[in-house]
Amino acid sequence: MASEKVVQADGLLGWVDRRFPLISLYKAHLSEYYAPKNFNFWYFFGSLALVVLVLQIVTGIFLVMHYKPDASLNAAGIPVAFASVEYIMREVPLGWVIRYMHSTGASAFFVVVFLHMFRGLMYGSYREPRELIWIFGCLIFLCLMAEAFFGYLLPWGQMSYWGAQVIVNLFSAVPLIGPDLAVWIRGDFVVGDATLNRFFAFHVIAIPLVLVGLVAAHIIALHEVGSNNPDGVDIKAKKDANGIPLDGIPFHPYYTVHDIMGLAGFAFIFAAVVFFAPELGGYFLEFNNFIPADPLVTPPHIAPVWYFTPFYSMLRATTDVFTWVFVLAAGLGAYGFYRIQPRTLVSMGGIAAMVLLAIAFRVFDAKFWGVVVMGGAVIILFFLPWLDHSPVKSIRYRPQWQKWLYGIFVVDFIVLGYLGVLPPSPAGQIISQLGTVYYFGFFALMPLWTPLGEFKSVPDRVTFQPH
Ligand code: HEM
Repeated sequence: MASEKVVQADGLLGWVDRRFPLISLYKAHLSEYYAPKNFNFWYFFGSLALVVLVLQIVTGIFLVMHYKPDASLNAAGIPVAFASVEYIMREVPLGWVIRYMHSTGASAFFVVVFLHMFRGLMYGSYREPRELIWIFGCLIFLCLMAEAFFGYLLPWGQMSYWGAQVIVNLFSAVPLIGPDLAVWIRGDFVVGDATLNRFFAFHVIAIPLVLVGLVAAHIIALHEVGSNNPDGVDIKAKKDANGIPLDGIPFHPYYTVHDIMGLAGFAFIFAAVVFFAPELGGYFLEFNNFIPADPLVTPPHIAPVWYFTPFYSMLRATTDVFTWVFVLAAGLGAYGFYRIQPRTLVSMGGIAAMVLLAIAFRVFDAKFWGVVVMGGAVIILFFLPWLDHSPVKSIRYRPQWQKWLYGIFVVDFIVLGYLGVLPPSPAGQIISQLGTVYYFGFFALMPLWTPLGEFKSVPDRVTFQPH
């Protein structure tokens, strides 16, 4: 290999390449990484997520140059942290652009990642051999949620303060150790300066480090097995005499150009929000967060930022009665699973878990179960590769009625998100309970419904119309 490289490059490039595998890395990941030729716009979102990650890190570095994680009051009686954000907005040259790019970037990150995950769901990209890509993705999603949560406390506005108070208090629902755990997380009996300092540490260094590492692992795993595609056909099954997949095209230049087009569209929308509607009607920056944090005044309605609200709705949906319904539904699901695969470890384990859950329900209160349901909504995603038993990967070849189930899932997720923004109401509660059952039913019952129905026959080669 080394002698091959000497022949390939001279000058500075050759000098570097003899000491570092620059050319072979470039080939392996760009010019000779063969991606399926039938990618569509859904494949923009992985590279867009990368772009937003870099954007958040770069704008974050500039914000940290002026931001102060300090909850004490300045001479004007304003918390120093809040005042430092106002200083960035009003006094630092171009500070307002940097700050709005960072706050809009946070929401854009979730938009892009939700679409990226949904693409994976539609085309069965989590299925063998891509399980690890998916699992790294789920870990990334968890980190992203933590990163956004920690970051939201930093401006030290009313929503930062009370949002953090509500979420940290959830930990006090953990049996036995809960109240002590909440104090340990805050570093104080209420959210205070100690909380702000540790959230700052997690937001600017700890989580970003893990996130970047996970993204690297995500892409290494992807390039090891190769990309899936909208047909869910394995392109490596048909290769030419040189071992190159017949339906593969080099990532560079074909998909670098393709992704730049996606980036242009994204940049257009992103700039429109940054320059014309950075609060986006209170969804991207909540209006209450323009008021400095006041531990003595609780805002009348505390709602998390939009990207947490589908999960927040599930938390609020979990009342005592609902927990019973949920245990019953989950029990029926486990029984159905048992009927299909009697006596396997999974089905027996499922039934045992249901019995334990039903007993445990008598012991713990609805708040605890709310936290379990909310956490479970993300944890269940990890198991997707083993829940889907469909004979085909892509939604294109699944029965029509299954496409409806996917459609309803999307509507369900949006409705849950919308209800999570609103103050609680009796009607909202029932709808979010139904929505929660559908969300969990969709995933947990996959072993039952995914193999059913008439599947279209999957072609040998990918389908592609040149345009
Ligand atoms: C910071 C966040 C993320 C970044 C930067 C990122 C980046 C990427 C990139 C660049 C690709 C290849 C291009 C593409 O297929 O679109 C990819 C593929 C993939 N990602 Fe992500 N990703 C992120 C989060 C996630 C999450 C949260 C999940 C799921 C839980 C996920 C699941 C996948 C899967 C399954 C593939 C393979 C898709 C296929 O081959 O069809 N990713 N990711």
